[in-house]
Amino acid sequence: MRVFRFSLLLVCLLTLAACQTYYVPAEVSKTPAAAAPEDPETPAAVFDASKYKGVFVFTIEEIENDGRSLLHISYPVTEQDAINARMEEVTQEFIAEYRTTAAQIEKAYQDYKKETGREAATFITHYRQYFDVAVANENLVFFDIVRSIHTGGTGNTFVVGYIFDRRSGAELSIADLFVDERYLERLSTLTGEVLEERARRQIADLEYESEAARKEALAWTLEWIEEGTAPTAENFDNLLFRDDDTVLVAFDKYQVAAGVAGVVEVALPVTTIADLLKPEIRVLLGIDSETATPRSEIARALGHAWAGIKQSPTVVAEAFMPPAAQASSLTEDEINCYEVPCVALTFDDGPSVFTEGLLDILKEHEVKATFFILGSRARIQSETVSRTFEEGHEIGNHTWDHPLLTDPGVSNEHIRWQVQQTDEIITQIIGEPSVHLRPPYGAYNDRVLEVAGVPFIFWSVDPVDWRDRDAEIVAARIGDAPPGAIILAHDIHETTVEAVPAIIVALKNRGIHFVTVTKLFAPQKLLPGYVYSQQPDAPN
Ligand code: NI
Repeated sequence: MRVFRFSLLLVCLLTLAACQTYYVPAEVSKTPAAAAPEDPETPAAVFDASKYKGVFVFTIEEIENDGRSLLHISYPVTEQDAINARMEEVTQEFIAEYRTTAAQIEKAYQDYKKETGREAATFITHYRQYFDVAVANENLVFFDIVRSIHTGGTGNTFVVGYIFDRRSGAELSIADLFVDERYLERLSTLTGEVLEERARRQIADLEYESEAARKEALAWTLEWIEEGTAPTAENFDNLLFRDDDTVLVAFDKYQVAAGVAGVVEVALPVTTIADLLKPEIRVLLGIDSETATPRSEIARALGHAWAGIKQSPTVVAEAFMPPAAQASSLTEDEINCYEVPCVALTFDDGPSVFTEGLLDILKEHEVKATFFILGSRARIQSETVSRTFEEGHEIGNHTWDHPLLTDPGVSNEHIRWQVQQTDEIITQIIGEPSVHLRPPYGAYNDRVLEVAGVPFIFWSVDPVDWRDRDAEIVAARIGDAPPGAIILAHDIHETTVEAVPAIIVALKNRGIHFVTVTKLFAPQKLLPGYVYSQQPDAPN
């Protein structure tokens, strides 16, 4: 069941400069969308890591039609199978919608090409999904699923909320949060007042042919609002509880205003409805603070989930495992990649539910790697990111939610936001920002390179592990990597992680050392505006 939903279209109408066709995810700023952030580059508030305890990221990516059809989505995995099944179900529905749209757009592209003999960059289908935990404790979890649909140079982003009872895995409706139906009258009154005031102001600012026309427009608008805010469960099925003591009431397109207004939102202080909320919801939202479960206890209560979900990939078949690796006689500090052969193994798109298992393998083999992570996922699995950094791996930036940066619909401002917002969360977790960026899909041009303002890291060896989900094939392709290579891999695929032990053994047996990207080039410094895909003049 869809519990609540809102679009950021209104945000964009209010901050025209920020969104021509591409919208900044509002929940990142922790500012209610109705009071749109003036400055979309406002850094995220310090995030509460404990509410993410026991939540992991599962990612699905599809690339079809020579990169014209792109899907990049993630959904939460928790200790509760029923929650996971429901999240997978709604994600699969989104994927099905993507496939239909992508097929239609691809057909239009083929027709256009046949008719004109030309190609055009506007036939792109890009569906993305990421998620956040709005609020959570050991009893309840509120997920916000953020979806972006981008087709033909225009885009839209909206949020779908889901509420679960964590003990049973049951999904809850908005009505389940309140003691009785009085909440409908309350919401009707409160939102009606806000919308009426808003409408009066807007209509006063507009030009009309006559005062009579103005009056008529106002009457018509107020009638629309009255109907759309009538106290029915259907009118108030879109509520989004935030951890900043507000609740967003979102009205569907056409519900309280003309379609041009898109989804309309009203932010209310949660105190205005607090007396009608069930006791356990009041505890979750911190209204009854004396009885609220301390965050540290939540973390402890959910600690078991960590061990249960963490997946240690099974070591791939003995048959294709080369003999044991030769131990390196050099310590990490002694390695100079202009004197001894090195490669940089890199992993994109994490952290994911498979990353902890990968870190176990790297630790066991004393191998250092570089992780190009997504800000939206780093926030969920901050402990994984901390561990990655503490164990000597390098953290690179892979943007917030994997946009196609070369798309003309992605503004310069949005490119900067993608980079900076990710560095903000990385800094909050490990104490320093990333040192370089890998653009999603490897897509960049001069504009992207200049606007991002950081070194870009490419690759020279690509095992195509996103397409060929076979550990043996992936291991064979990487095992042949020459010295100086930057190797592309993805820690969102279990098969890739399964391939890593064999990769390590194969390369070490050839006398090759594993280093971070920075170390591969050291003492040469990586510079903004440059793209690095392999170490020049690598020794054999
Ligand atoms: Ni990627």
